[in-house]
Amino acid sequence: MQKKIEINPSARNALLAGHPWIFSGKVLSPLDGYENGETVQVYCEGKLMGTGFVSPKNSICIRMVSRQAVETNRDFFVQRFLQMQRLKRRFVGEQTNMYRLCFSESDFIPGLIVDNYNRHLVIQTNSAGAMKNRDVIADALIASMKPLSITDRTDDETFKTEHFKAPASKGLIYGEMREEELIMKENGVLFYVDVKGGHKTGFYLDQRENRETAGKISSQKSVLNLCSYTGGFTIYSLIGGAARTVSVDVSAKVLSLLDRNVELNRISADKNKSVKADVFDFVTNENLDKFDVIIIDPPAFAKHVSEVKQAEKAYRYINSAVLKKAKSETFILTSSCTSVVDQEMFADLMEKCIRDSQRDVRIVRKTFLPPDHPALFHFKEGEYLKSFLLYVI
Ligand SMILES: C[S@@+](CC[C@H](N)C(=O)[O-])C[C@H]1O[C@@H](n2cnc3c(N)ncnc32)[C@H](O)[C@@H]1O
Repeated sequence: MQKKIEINPSARNALLAGHPWIFSGKVLSPLDGYENGETVQVYCEGKLMGTGFVSPKNSICIRMVSRQAVETNRDFFVQRFLQMQRLKRRFVGEQTNMYRLCFSESDFIPGLIVDNYNRHLVIQTNSAGAMKNRDVIADALIASMKPLSITDRTDDETFKTEHFKAPASKGLIYGEMREEELIMKENGVLFYVDVKGGHKTGFYLDQRENRETAGKISSQKSVLNLCSYTGGFTIYSLIGGAARTVSVDVSAKVLSLLDRNVELNRISADKNKSVKADVFDFVTNENLDKFDVIIIDPPAFAKHVSEVKQAEKAYRYINSAVLKKAKSETFILTSSCTSVVDQEMFADLMEKCIRDSQRDVRIVRKTFLPPDHPALFHFKEGEYLKSFLLYVI
C-alpha cells in the first residue's frame, strides 16, 4: 500500500501542465515519514494528482511517474519499456543499432537513463526512485528487451546527491560483454563505443541528427571538429566526402579511439588530423579561415543555475572567436548541452557573438534533441541540447 503525500495547491498548476517535479517547499506532509525513493500517491486538497518517487532530503522532492495511481512493480516497468521500444524503433532505422531507450522524466521514469547498444544496455539511475527500483528495473529490462548484458554506470557523486547508498553490484550487473569496446552502427557509420569507461553511457547519442547534417554539407570541404570526442562528426564528414578534417579534443584517450574509428570505416588515416588541445587555446591561436565547416560541441559548462554566467562566458568566447575568424561562406554548427542554459539564453548569447563579430550570418537550421530523446510540455529542463547551423556571409 503506497503512502499518500499532500502538496500545496500552489504547486498544482505546474503539475497539471505537465511539469514532473515538486519542490520540497510545496510539500505539506512531514517528509521524515517517507523512505528515500519510495513510490507515493500525490494528493492536492484531497484529490489524487498521480504517482511519484519521493526524495525526502532533496529540494526536488517528488518526481512524477504518472497522473494516475500506479504500482511501480515489474509489470509496470515491462509495459513502459515495451512502449518506449515501440516509439523509439519507429525513428531509428535498420542501419542504426544504438539509441536511447529511456530518457528519464521525458519517458516517465524519472531519473532513469537506458541506452541500447545493440542489446547491450547501459543504465544510469539519477533519482532515489530509480536507484531504489534498480533491481526490479533490471528484471523488467531482461523480460522486455532480452538484452545480452546490462551495465550500471551510475556514478558515486549521483548516489551522494540522492543520499542513497550505492548498491553492492555496479558495472556489469547482467549477462556478458566480452569486448572492451563494442562496435556499433549509426546510420551505417561504424564506431567503437567504450560503454564501460566512455563519456555518458559511451557515446553522444543525442547528436545523431546533427552528425547526419554534417555529413551532408561536407563534400569536398575542409572540416574543423572542435571538442570531437571519438569523432562522430569527423567520421560522418569524411564519409560525406570531406577533403580533410581536423579534430580537436583535450583528451588523448578519446582521440586515440577517434583514430581507430577512422580506420574502422576504411578511411585513409591521412584525411584526418587529430589534435590534442584545449579548445579555448585552439580558437585563440589558430587560423580558422582555412575551414569551410566548423563544428563546435563543447562539454556542459554548468551544472547549477549559479554557474550560468560562467557558462555563457565560455560559449561567448569560443563562438565569438570562431565567428570573427571564419572565412566567408563557412558553415558553423554550434551546440550547447548545458541544461541550465536554455534555448532562449543560448539564442541570446549567440546573438551577442554575432554582434561582436560584425558578421552577417544566416540561421540555416535550429535543432533540438532527436526523437529518442523526447521532451515534455512545460519541462524545459529536459531539453538540454540545442544547436544552430549558421552560414557566414
Ligand atoms: C559534448 S562532447 C562532444 C561529442 C561529440 N561531438 C560527438 O558527437 O561524439 C565534448 C567533448 O569536449 C571535450 N572537452 C572538454 N573540455 C575541453 C576543452 N577545454 N578543450 C577541448 N576539448 C574539451 C571532451 O573531452 C569531450 O570529448
